[in-house]
Amino acid sequence: MSGQVRTAVIGLGRLGYWHAENLATKVKGAQLVKVVDPLEGRAEQVARELGVPGWSKDPREVFEDVNIDAVVLVTPTSTHAEMITQAATHGKQIFVEKPITQTVEEADEVIQVLHKHNVFCQVGFMRRFDPAYAEAKRRIVAGDIGKPLYFKGVSRDGNCPPAEFIKHSGGLFLDVAIHDYDIARFLMGTEVESVTATGNVLLHTFMNDYHDVDQAVTTLTFASGAAGDIETMRIAPYGYDIRGEVIGTEGSIQIGSLRHHDVLLLTTNASTHDIIPDFPTKFKDAYLLEMIHFIDAVQKRERPACTETDGKIALEIAAAATESFQTAKTVKLDKKVSI
Ligand SMILES: NC(=O)c1ccc[n+]([C@@H]2O[C@H](COP(=O)([O-])OP(=O)(O)OC[C@H]3O[C@@H](n4cnc5c(N)ncnc54)[C@H](O)[C@@H]3O)[C@@H](O)[C@H]2O)c1
Repeated sequence: MSGQVRTAVIGLGRLGYWHAENLATKVKGAQLVKVVDPLEGRAEQVARELGVPGWSKDPREVFEDVNIDAVVLVTPTSTHAEMITQAATHGKQIFVEKPITQTVEEADEVIQVLHKHNVFCQVGFMRRFDPAYAEAKRRIVAGDIGKPLYFKGVSRDGNCPPAEFIKHSGGLFLDVAIHDYDIARFLMGTEVESVTATGNVLLHTFMNDYHDVDQAVTTLTFASGAAGDIETMRIAPYGYDIRGEVIGTEGSIQIGSLRHHDVLLLTTNASTHDIIPDFPTKFKDAYLLEMIHFIDAVQKRERPACTETDGKIALEIAAAATESFQTAKTVKLDKKVSI
């Protein structure tokens, strides 16, 4: 398509605001024409702040507007299936935050709708666009560490979302570990074959009310014969700590660090540096780069690099991990059989 991509952002909470800001101020080729949030005054406030001409409390005003080409869905996970279905039915190209939907059955249904209406759905696995993870992928593909044998993922967060978010999040495996499931298959270049997961409530006891956990470990086996483990938690008292490692036959590649600014403070009794506090700080560049990619894909009418299929596969791994945690059994992905 030629010209600007007329875009709307639906959902202006913790992350939606940043996507809206990027689209309004930084993404060439995008024109942010409307923002939507049902919370009283939120959409108007964001629209005024970012100079967006339209705002609404009702997503239907976006779906039914024939002048809008693309939508960015950043609403609670429990709403994704309905939002994608509505957007696709009205012919919009879609960016949806992870996970694509809350259940694999919903993912199958929305994929059918997407295909029927010939639109695509990029899923918000922004780690793929993070410069460090992207460089690691390039080096692995170039053969710099030989054949990948082991994946290690660490996602530790100190900012526990409120109960209202947890209630609609799908649980720790679906909401947080899914980033590692996606980046694991992306970096390893092979599919996950089975998972074994454990979890606990170590600090945030309100999670018991939602059958959720604040700490989990998933071990993975891959179709290539490789293995891996993923540590996930919402209890890190010190900051936002996201790291990855792939160990290969010829070497290892380590991704991510705790430092925010590259500054080291030396005194007589300590050497210290600051720590990344939260996800908007850690993945600022990645959120912008994934949105640039989405708008570019819409303009070129090309499928994006991270599609609804990637969204579904990561969701299958998350569902299998949840099942493994609940049943205390290893769950195979291909046949979804507990062993
Ligand atoms: N990729 C990432 O790193 C990342 C980080 C955080 C959140 N997320 C995902 O983004 C989504 C939103 O998470 P969040 O943390 O911003 O949540 P949030 O609760 O902070 O914000 C959600 C917003 O959506 C609005 N909303 C609720 N129902 C709506 C509806 N029907 N129509 C329009 N707006 C509606 C709410 O009023 C709220 O402002 C979730 O799916 C989450 O998994 C991804």
